[in-house]
Amino acid sequence: MGLVEGKIALVTGAGSGIGRASARAFAREGAKVVVVDVVVDGGEETVTLIKADGGDAVFVRCDVSSAAEVEAAVKTAMDTYGRLDCAHNNAGIEGPMSSTVDCAEADWDRLLGINLKGEWLCMKYEIPRMLTGSGGAIVNTASVAGLVGFQGLPSYSASKFGVNGITKVAALDYASVGIRVNSVCPGVIQTPMIDRLVAANPEMEAALIAGTPMGRLGRPEEIAEAVVWLCSDRASFVTGHNMVVDGAFTAQ
Ligand SMILES: NC(=O)c1ccc[n+]([C@@H]2O[C@H](COP(=O)([O-])OP(=O)(O)OC[C@H]3O[C@@H](n4cnc5c(N)ncnc54)[C@H](O)[C@@H]3O)[C@@H](O)[C@H]2O)c1
Repeated sequence: MGLVEGKIALVTGAGSGIGRASARAFAREGAKVVVVDVVVDGGEETVTLIKADGGDAVFVRCDVSSAAEVEAAVKTAMDTYGRLDCAHNNAGIEGPMSSTVDCAEADWDRLLGINLKGEWLCMKYEIPRMLTGSGGAIVNTASVAGLVGFQGLPSYSASKFGVNGITKVAALDYASVGIRVNSVCPGVIQTPMIDRLVAANPEMEAALIAGTPMGRLGRPEEIAEAVVWLCSDRASFVTGHNMVVDGAFTAQ
């Protein structure tokens, strides 16, 4: 019996990196998965991978910064599988690195629109659906950049501190009605996002590895394990928690 056997799980940003690993982990642990991404190819590929593993999944294209698109994606989940039990709100972008002064207003607005407003919109439309069933569990992807400052990432840090904050607020709002809300704070994880950052700033890779006490970058599957556990009944008294999975990065 899988950790989330028979549950319906929605994962955003599931066409790549951490979201793909999480969607596959949910399916492996017995859930039917709604794969949400703004990029069609990546999302469809994740569905193909899940089906090849013997799982059940459907792809929905959605830009999480659009209320109408998030509402429609959640409705598709309900129309397809009849229920929503688990959600991993994970879609995010890195944006260009800059100092606080040099950060461009348009970059700030775009990043906050996806990384922070997008997480709020997902919860806004997921929670009422979960309340019509037997409750639910949500994990928002924040970051260690939502716990400590990272030079060069003003908007990204703002978004991730915000994600950790709204996670706690939503946990309080719905604690008494059977909805648990947690966040996961990954350290540096080897995904296309980090590949792009390193390609733009080649000196960064060695510094990121050296800055991680375990001496390596994390794997997306290591974040997925935490997400699926947090969404499972094994975590039944865990809510409002910002869980660090970072190879001791923030223990320093
Ligand atoms: N990789 C890391 O080191 C790291 C560390 C901490 C937190 N995170 C966070 O983890 C999450 C996933 O990142 P990743 O490393 O897997 O990156 P990634 O770029 O590999 O995957 C991000 C996915 O989100 C999708 N996406 C982007 N904008 C979207 C939008 N508006 N609507 C819907 N989908 C959208 C992309 O198409 C992509 O499939 C992000 O929130 C990121 O900030 C990553």
